[in-house]
Amino acid sequence: LASTEVDLSPIALGQSVTVMWRGKPIFVRHRTAEEIQVARATPLSELKDPATDQSRIKRDPWLVVVGVCTHLGCVPLGQKSTDAKGDYNGWFCPCHGSHYDTSARIRKGPAPTNLLVPDYTFTSDRAIRIG
Ligand code: FES
Repeated sequence: LASTEVDLSPIALGQSVTVMWRGKPIFVRHRTAEEIQVARATPLSELKDPATDQSRIKRDPWLVVVGVCTHLGCVPLGQKSTDAKGDYNGWFCPCHGSHYDTSARIRKGPAPTNLLVPDYTFTSDRAIRIG
């Protein structure tokens, strides 16, 4: 499928879902106000791949990223409530220990860049189309 529709309404605050798009996992997180605030309070000077949180989203409180570690392509943990989320409460790649923050930016470990933001649009207040 060239594009994938995601209904956001069942995704509770603080939860994430994974959908497949062109054979890749896409992480959709309904971020809490605290997660957003922490991401925005982080100085760009602390980031290996500097990008503001605002530049990585289209509409609060949703974060949508490709769930493929930018080091060697493992799928990071952090989608389930019981998963390790790493030192920055985002995602943790167990393959070689990359830590991503609540904006899915690389903060620690060997991954060179942030998790990618796929091409997507909001088709309504509660739905997106990826691709
Ligand atoms: Fe994720 Fe190496 S593939 S840290």
